Amino acid sequence: MSTVTQTLTEPLKTLHLRSASPENTEKPGFKGTKYDHDKDAGGEKDSTYPYAWALPTFNNTTYPPLTAFDHKDPGLEALKHENPREFLQNAQVSDLTPKFGADVSGVQLTQLDLRGKQQLARFVAERGIVVFRDQDFQDQTPQWMLNEWGSTFGRLHVHPTSAHPEGHPEFHLVYRDMSKTFNYEFTDRFTSSVWHSDVTYEEQPPGLTTLFLFDSPASGGDTAYVSQVEAYKRLSPSFRAYLETLEVVHSGVEQANFSRAGNRGGTVRREPVENVHPLVRQHPVTGEKALFVNKQFSRRIVGLKHEESEAILNLLYDHLAKGVDFQVRVKWSPRAVVLWDNRITAHSAIVDFDSAQDGRRHGARITPQAERPFLNKN
Ligand code: SIN
Repeated sequence: MSTVTQTLTEPLKTLHLRSASPENTEKPGFKGTKYDHDKDAGGEKDSTYPYAWALPTFNNTTYPPLTAFDHKDPGLEALKHENPREFLQNAQVSDLTPKFGADVSGVQLTQLDLRGKQQLARFVAERGIVVFRDQDFQDQTPQWMLNEWGSTFGRLHVHPTSAHPEGHPEFHLVYRDMSKTFNYEFTDRFTSSVWHSDVTYEEQPPGLTTLFLFDSPASGGDTAYVSQVEAYKRLSPSFRAYLETLEVVHSGVEQANFSRAGNRGGTVRREPVENVHPLVRQHPVTGEKALFVNKQFSRRIVGLKHEESEAILNLLYDHLAKGVDFQVRVKWSPRAVVLWDNRITAHSAIVDFDSAQDGRRHGARITPQAERPFLNKN
């Protein structure tokens, strides 16, 4: 499949920086941090904040283009396990909806051995998105998070434009407070919702993705997810068959241009790329087919006239955005860790909180890359 180039407009993410007040440090990961105007250091790090190491930074380091690599999904090994849910044997598991999403308590992700992580990868592939409550994940070192955890699931992605903790570009940070704009700005739109799968413009977009919050508002700041497997299944057989013949251009150009215009820290670490992926992709572990389009990065269907391409893409974006019967909304709790399979889901942050009133939202994403999207035609 070819790599192509195109110029585009938009993304909407902007970031706010602030320092923490001492009372915020008593219970790491607690909800309800209040903004302290006097303490605001305009984004300088405050050493009293237990997660100061993870505050956003930008630097001018640039990276060469990503190269292709072989990805063997750890979930494949779990297909051989007699009981692939062994790692959940002491856990309480509840489905968020019958077909999509799960909420798990009673298992510590940090205690999983390789076999457990293989089963985890398979479980997340089956459920799409899984919330793990009451984790000690946030207390681990960044080295552990990246090397012992994230690397198990694929090659760690370095985001071309987003903020990261100093010295650790493999984290993608989500951060919003009232001091500096950086995250999910939507003053010229009705809503903050931007359904997307992460960095689908890459040749090998991410698979099993981990997101956790260090600090979150008293209420709000949930994350919404949609199952692109279920969305695919809702279409008629003949439309599905046609979609399976199509390929889509995904582009990182617009995101880079947004940063080059001075937004989001103004950093572009790697030249933007465009890649062509099948419109319907297949999961290597479950074999499930899923729609693989998102408004943030999909640009056009190869070989169709502009109007045809726009009509089909907009129909699918609309379908994904409106299908509340194949979506879930995750309410964060202190010390929750959320894992999703980026190959078969899309998500949107929900910016319904006012950081001046409701507090800061600060989290990190670890985004291992997976295989090149494929569809077996048989
Ligand atoms: C993301 O878009 O990867 C992060 C979602 C969130 O901040 O809830």
